[in-house]
This record gives sequence, structure tokens and C-alpha cells, in this order.
Amino acid sequence: MTNSINPPELLIPDLYAPLFQDKGEIIKYPDIILRTQSLLVEDLDAAQSVISKMSSILSNTTGVGLAAPQIGENKRIIITKHEKRHVIINPVIEESSGFTVADEGCLSIPGLWGKVIRCEKVILRGLSQHGKELVLHLSGTGAIVAQHEIDHLNGVLFFDKALKDSLYWWCPVINKKIAVEFA
Ligand code: CO
Repeated sequence: MTNSINPPELLIPDLYAPLFQDKGEIIKYPDIILRTQSLLVEDLDAAQSVISKMSSILSNTTGVGLAAPQIGENKRIIITKHEKRHVIINPVIEESSGFTVADEGCLSIPGLWGKVIRCEKVILRGLSQHGKELVLHLSGTGAIVAQHEIDHLNGVLFFDKALKDSLYWWCPVINKKIAVEFA
């Protein structure tokens, strides 16, 4: 695939492997679709079924955001649901300022956590679900979620950008913290 990128490979510990073998509705690492550039949405009608599928999947999780490639669709669509729920088609960060750092996780990489430095404030431009021009001024967690989801549209995963020493494996079911290794 010419439009995929090739970053260091994350090694999934045996204890955490079952979380990745679960063939649920959310695509898990290391599926190649998560490393592929998503395409601009040109047909809003065709995007509607993707958006409703994303919405229902996201509402069944504890996640605060979802990008279309995570359900197997290489389309530039994200949903963020911090405080308010936003569907954004073809999102672009128009302006950003400041820096913030917080622990992030990802529904496609269950059990992995780590700190990522992001912009504190962003101005996002895109289209609403029904094609209306959107301009969103986001800050704090809302801005972090939007940046994480837009990264997904470019094949970038949060651990690519995370402070490497801050990464760790943990989930309540397994309840054993494990250090992170790369291939
Ligand atoms: Co994610």
C-alpha cells in the first residue's frame, strides 16, 4: 500500500493479546487500515451510514472519540464526545496554540496508556453530518480528543507521539501493569 506509513511496531504482551483478538466492531492494532491515510468525503449521502454506525459503536464504549478507519472505513470522519458530541466530516485544524499533556488511550489499542503533548487550543473547520460548514473552538480535553481522532485519519496512533517513558499497559480486567516494548 503506497499511502501507508511504517512506524516502529508495538509489541503486544501475551497477557494483553486476548483484547486484540476480540473481533468486535472496532478495528484493532496492527490492522493496516489504522496506518492508512483516509480519503476526503465527497458524497455526504454515502457518509450517513458510516456516521450512524460510528455513533452506535461509540455509544457502546467508554471512549470519548472515534475515527472512521477504526470501524474499517478510510473516510475523513470523526466523532468527539467530550461534553458535547460533534460529528466532523473532513476536519482540518486551522489554528492551534499552547501545549498540554495528558494520558491518552485508544479503542483500537486496548490497555495501552501514555502521555502525549498536544496543542491546548485548536480551531477546527469541517462539515457537520448534514454538510453545514462547522467552525469549532476547542480547548483542553475537547481539543486533545479532536487531535487524537484527526491523527487517526492520517494513519498516526497516539503511541507514535507519546512520551516513550510514559507508556504502559493496564486494564481493569487484567489489573497488571506492564512495561511497553517496541520491535
Ligand atoms: Co484512537
